[in-house]
Amino acid sequence: MSEYDGFAPIYDAWSADMTEDVGFYVELATEADGPVVELAVGTGRVAIPIAERTGKPVVGIDSSPAMLQVARERAATAGIHLELRQSDMRDLALDEPAALVICPFRSLLHLPTWYDRRRVFERVAANLRPGGRFAWNAFVFDFSIAADLHGRWQEEPVRHRIDQVPADNRIDIMLESGPRISLWWVSRGEWEGLLDVAGLETEALYGWFDRRPFDEESREFVWVARKPVG
Ligand SMILES: C[S@@+](CC[C@H](N)C(=O)[O-])C[C@H]1O[C@@H](n2cnc3c(N)ncnc32)[C@H](O)[C@@H]1O
Repeated sequence: MSEYDGFAPIYDAWSADMTEDVGFYVELATEADGPVVELAVGTGRVAIPIAERTGKPVVGIDSSPAMLQVARERAATAGIHLELRQSDMRDLALDEPAALVICPFRSLLHLPTWYDRRRVFERVAANLRPGGRFAWNAFVFDFSIAADLHGRWQEEPVRHRIDQVPADNRIDIMLESGPRISLWWVSRGEWEGLLDVAGLETEALYGWFDRRPFDEESREFVWVARKPVG
């Protein structure tokens, strides 16, 4: 069981507004010279278009059996093969080093502590080919958005409530039907620290999937890092 199992039935509606990332990750996969791995693959929203459009082997890792079941059914319907593994991204261990590891839709924010995040970055670095890339996106924490949403029930896309827990830099999202997930927001300096301890280099930091530069107005980190060659 995973706290995300309860989101599987409503995940299409939940993610409906996030579409601009798919082309960005497909483009990176097209450039990858070898296997592509998606951490926290969910229902295959990004992994399936990557497999369809690039024909490359795609490994998807997720801790939620219910999310993976949706991905399995979707891949079968699309007639493509995804290697789906139920596992925790903190334990990433690939049979073959990847050319590209991605973690779309803010999924790294589900890791509660610095230790958890550092472990994922180190596992990614250990499982990338020299010159391989690690790309992910995460929101930039904005106190005014947080204050506006705090403690409110919202109807769209499904009835849910968001609570901020500043002492733990945490945001709890609860569906009316019961399931609850948490996100721990991460600052730019922390992302840079994670890259540093894992021995990865920043190739680009964008402010959105159209590759506009990251600046003071940005509300999304869109990060492309690289494992140095040699
Ligand atoms: C927001 S969804 C993203 C799914 C997919 N990547 C997408 O872009 O639509 C977050 C996913 O992260 C998974 N997840 C959360 N913590 C995880 C962990 N520690 N290891 C593996 N998967 C995890 C959840 O089960 C869920 O499927």
